Amino acid sequence: MTAAASPPRPPVRLGVLISGEGTNLQALIDAIARGDLAAEIRVVISNQAAAGGLARARHHGIDAQVIDHRGFPSRQDFDRALVAALNAHGVELVVCAGFMRLLSPVMVAAFRDRIMNIHPALCPAFPGVDAQQQAIDYGVRFSGCTVFFVTEGVDNGPVIVQAVVPVHQDDDAATLAARIHAEEHRIYPWAIALFQQGRLEIRGRRVHIRDFPAPAAIPALINPRSS
Ligand code: GRF
Repeated sequence: MTAAASPPRPPVRLGVLISGEGTNLQALIDAIARGDLAAEIRVVISNQAAAGGLARARHHGIDAQVIDHRGFPSRQDFDRALVAALNAHGVELVVCAGFMRLLSPVMVAAFRDRIMNIHPALCPAFPGVDAQQQAIDYGVRFSGCTVFFVTEGVDNGPVIVQAVVPVHQDDDAATLAARIHAEEHRIYPWAIALFQQGRLEIRGRRVHIRDFPAPAAIPALINPRSS
């Protein structure tokens, strides 16, 4: 007797936090449109009024708000405003996509195990800002990007997905960032899809992915491009 297939889960309700251009936000919008990600972006929130991602969101009819951190006396007060806005939109999963603010315990506790971030390095290497320049300065031959669950630390939460890119001799931060960005746009929608499908289980600091493809398929999923 074969087990009955479980019914598809409803689209996950996302709140996306940005500070800048929003190309990762665009990748999510595109993945949803293609049918690769069962999700609904309920709200995009930026702490910067000039963030290019706000226009991307509005172009697609997504509610886009500015909550300027400078209007709040403390990081915690800012985070309380974020939590209120996200909850007002029924957000299940918070997606940080180039959001240049450290989250306080207020946010982490309100959405425990339900906040993802993406970092342009292979965590735990090169946390914080200028990760691409850090990689070049250090002289590593490979770098990449990491999607992880946000905890109280800086870029060191449980890892969900990583992708690797080579670092070329003549790279500068911009050329390396472009190579990494292409991988970010591929793995972030995938990580969120795994969440939506209920396949991510946090065990201590490790994330177990249920029904992961057979080992032979893993290299293709993690790192299909090497240029
Ligand atoms: C990405 O490199 C991401 O890894 C980092 O911020 C950048 C955001 O880029 N956290 P974009 O705004 O999505 O284009």
